[in-house]
Amino acid sequence: MTRIVVVGSINMDLVTLAPRFPAAGETLLGERFLTVPGGKGANQAVAAARLGAEVALVGALGRDAFGEQLARGLSEEGVDTTHVAWRDDVGSGTASITVAEGDNQIVVVPAANAHVTPAQVEAARAHIERADAVLVQMEIPLESVEATVRLGRSLDVPVILNPAPAQPLPTEWLARVRYLTPNQHELATVLGDEGRTDFRELIRRAPCPVVLTRGGEGAWYREQGEPRHQAGFAVDVVDTTGAGDTFNGALAVFLREGLETAVRKACAAAALSVTRLGAQGGMPRRVELDAFLAGQASA
Ligand code: RIB
Repeated sequence: MTRIVVVGSINMDLVTLAPRFPAAGETLLGERFLTVPGGKGANQAVAAARLGAEVALVGALGRDAFGEQLARGLSEEGVDTTHVAWRDDVGSGTASITVAEGDNQIVVVPAANAHVTPAQVEAARAHIERADAVLVQMEIPLESVEATVRLGRSLDVPVILNPAPAQPLPTEWLARVRYLTPNQHELATVLGDEGRTDFRELIRRAPCPVVLTRGGEGAWYREQGEPRHQAGFAVDVVDTTGAGDTFNGALAVFLREGLETAVRKACAAAALSVTRLGAQGGMPRRVELDAFLAGQASA
């Protein structure tokens, strides 16, 4: 069985469906409100678990009602939460999400996620050592992201860094990453090259292999040579929240099949994820993904 360790955030998503995004200072009547599990770390862990991987999550929750609910949800998905720390001094992370016009706007309050420590990463060394891949994003302190990248590299375990939300990163640490998985805007920010709009050139300039997500247009990837393209899969879009997380979780699971196959399957998983509401709502199980891909092949 493929083993994945995810180091990252856990949030309760407070989702409002609206007919459009409100302007600054405007009050708008929404259509529906729901609280659903989210957070980039938890989402990627659930995506990988639904695709059949054995998954452990390193993160932090506040000892509150959201925390209890989120921990229960992760366990029900089969995610090992041994390395999720409980904080008495701070609440669980939240994300206020507006879904409108086929898109979303998100404001995250990290709360407990801001207290994920390098020591927690080190404590998960035994899990990381036997993992096929490690996934990490940037909704936790940068020092813990760095500790993850360093430890993965020193143990020769591939680290996939999803640089969201993005900030400029030192070249030395990017060089230790097995795959960087940004969107175009995130890649420009990470490389400190925001003026550059040619994403293929950004991919070439990165000091590590890049898998760049392009929403409905699929993904571009490069290990060496020229960037290559995987087209997106056409689906009816309900909610794009968590599509990138589904992509990352799937990429980690299928990496052993080679990058080209992994990117194709990750694009398909991400496409399925946007057909239902909520970050984790549409994440496919292995059987659903296989059936979707078989249908594409015979179409
Ligand atoms: O990537 C989507 C996620 O970003 C949401 O679930 C939200 O919690 C934020 O972390």
